[in-house]
Amino acid sequence: MGEAQNVFVEGDNLDVLPTLPALLGAAVDLVYIDPPYNTGNDFAYVDDFRSDGSRRSRHQAWVAMMRPRLGAARDVLAETGAIFVSIDDNEVAHLRLLMDEVFGEENLLAQVVVNLNPKGRQLGKGFATNHEYVLVYARDARRTVLDASSPDAVDERDFPLTTPDGRRYRHLPLRNTNKKFNPLTARTLHFALWGDPGSGRVSTAPFDGAVEIEPVFGDGRPAVWRWSRPLIDERPDDLVCRVVKARAGDRIDVYQRDWLQRDVPGGRRKKLRTIWLAEEVGSTDTAVAELKELVGHVFESPKPTGLVRRILGTMPDDALVLDFFAGSGTTGHAVALQNAADGGTRRCVSVNSAEPTRPGSNAHSAGLLTVADITRARLQAVADTVGGGYEELSPPRP
Ligand SMILES: C[S@@+](CC[C@H](N)C(=O)[O-])C[C@H]1O[C@@H](n2cnc3c(N)ncnc32)[C@H](O)[C@@H]1O
Repeated sequence: MGEAQNVFVEGDNLDVLPTLPALLGAAVDLVYIDPPYNTGNDFAYVDDFRSDGSRRSRHQAWVAMMRPRLGAARDVLAETGAIFVSIDDNEVAHLRLLMDEVFGEENLLAQVVVNLNPKGRQLGKGFATNHEYVLVYARDARRTVLDASSPDAVDERDFPLTTPDGRRYRHLPLRNTNKKFNPLTARTLHFALWGDPGSGRVSTAPFDGAVEIEPVFGDGRPAVWRWSRPLIDERPDDLVCRVVKARAGDRIDVYQRDWLQRDVPGGRRKKLRTIWLAEEVGSTDTAVAELKELVGHVFESPKPTGLVRRILGTMPDDALVLDFFAGSGTTGHAVALQNAADGGTRRCVSVNSAEPTRPGSNAHSAGLLTVADITRARLQAVADTVGGGYEELSPPRP
């Protein structure tokens, strides 16, 4: 694989996947795929796996298509890698069982609900479905480097205080509020501190104007601190004492200044929840707009780059990323945007077959005669506008 951040391989992914180790010279860290959902809809690509018309066989045909492809994906994944698969209600039950079979149910990390259509589907009868799913599996849950947290999940409103130089923080009690920790269970953390509620200064040793402060629970029983003496001596500026109102009258307590550290490398992250809202990751509408701006309205069901960027954020910033149902090339676009935003060196391999676009579709009318032409057009436009380069590779002939 050369220098380009975005690489495209045209072909049936079942043929291409086994050639990737030789083509790339490295194992893949992160797979994101958005396979056909088997909805029967008239998209630019085939989305109907009906064989004899019965519901059961439609699912079976879809599973038969997916099983060897997921197996081949597992073979190219690094031991520390992970796979994210988008799916909706049509096949989520079958996909979940299939993923358990191929990756092992012990490697399931999450079944995320993604609110990609906030208004809800208004066509047809029944509920206005406004979500789909992303299934997340590790290649090996004990060894994966996936970090299910994000700086974006941190809510600034949880840090209501600001220093004169603009740094946001909040006060956390230095006292351990968990009753399991007390002078009997954590003897070395029960000691008196000295503090001046006027200046806020805190110390392990007495000083002029200081009063002695013992750690106590709200009901007056003895408690313990969360920090040891040496840590308090090391970081006195991150502590403050003040008068607080309590049931038993006013008392003086000690607080940690807990900094937001939004833009600090390696700064604060928060665990990602398993419902992802359109306002956080984008929607199908914003995805169509992103694609329209680069190449036109040539694909009906793209994913928003925000969704893929959130996924990228769970893996190291030099990850080798693979999308072998690439469609309009959203994953490659997201990789280029994320690298531009955080200086990462991720590379992305996109694979799509030369499936013909439907005559009369926008893509066909724009001269994009195969879905692979759509992928190429977007990745080239991404290289031109965002940067990172673009290269097309051919799998070796069998
Ligand atoms: C749901 S779309 C992916 C959309 C994509 N996530 C995006 O944001 O544009 C599925 C894609 O898989 C492609 N595809 C279906 N079967 C394939 C196969 N066997 N090999 C390679 N690509 C395939 C289709 O052409 C289609 O572009």
